[in-house]
Amino acid sequence: MLEEKNIAVLVSGGGSNLQALIDAETAGRLGGGRLSLVISSHPNAYALTRAAQAGIPARVVAREAYETRAAFTQAVLEELRARDVHLIVLAGFLYVLSPAFCLAYPGRVINVHPALIPAFCGDGCYGLRVHRAVLAYGVKVTGATVHFVSEETDGGPIILQKAVAVEPDDTPESLQRRVMEQAEWILLPEAVRLFCEGRLRVDGRTVTAVDA
Ligand code: GRF
Repeated sequence: MLEEKNIAVLVSGGGSNLQALIDAETAGRLGGGRLSLVISSHPNAYALTRAAQAGIPARVVAREAYETRAAFTQAVLEELRARDVHLIVLAGFLYVLSPAFCLAYPGRVINVHPALIPAFCGDGCYGLRVHRAVLAYGVKVTGATVHFVSEETDGGPIILQKAVAVEPDDTPESLQRRVMEQAEWILLPEAVRLFCEGRLRVDGRTVTAVDA
């Protein structure tokens, strides 16, 4: 029996990535991980409805209630410290947290980004902006990346990536949808499962999934 690992998921919007994690846990594909807390940066995020429907305790730490990134980060940390959290997953979470966050949970924060890092990432490049930049540049292939979170925005070691074709008639919205369906919703539960099964080996920037 795998040791249960409590997972906190940070969200900001629709929560489709959270839903992918919920569905994976229900199907027994989360490696023993247990979704035990959802923290939303927005009080009206539909992700909160998804958490309630799944019976997952949820808290709102509204970003606009805090003057600074540091104060917001501390408020999120306080919610986490109140629980025995092993892994933190940023799932459609739209804010960069201050370095104190990674220092509090070294090697235990995972993020999904809707592009093939190091392309189309970094400060200010999130959500639909990513797909607008992809279309503006004219690339033929994009995708999604799941990576460990470090002090550098979108700069942590890469765990999994998956390529997605850009279609000639794509809009930012149609491309976002395809990247979610074909990449994000597949990669994020898989990365969480590998983490919870203790199968991720990190050597500098290189992450390797080893057999159980
Ligand atoms: C996803 O593409 C995610 O990568 C980005 O926002 C989109 C919606 O995420 N940050 P979700 O539905 O809230 O998980």
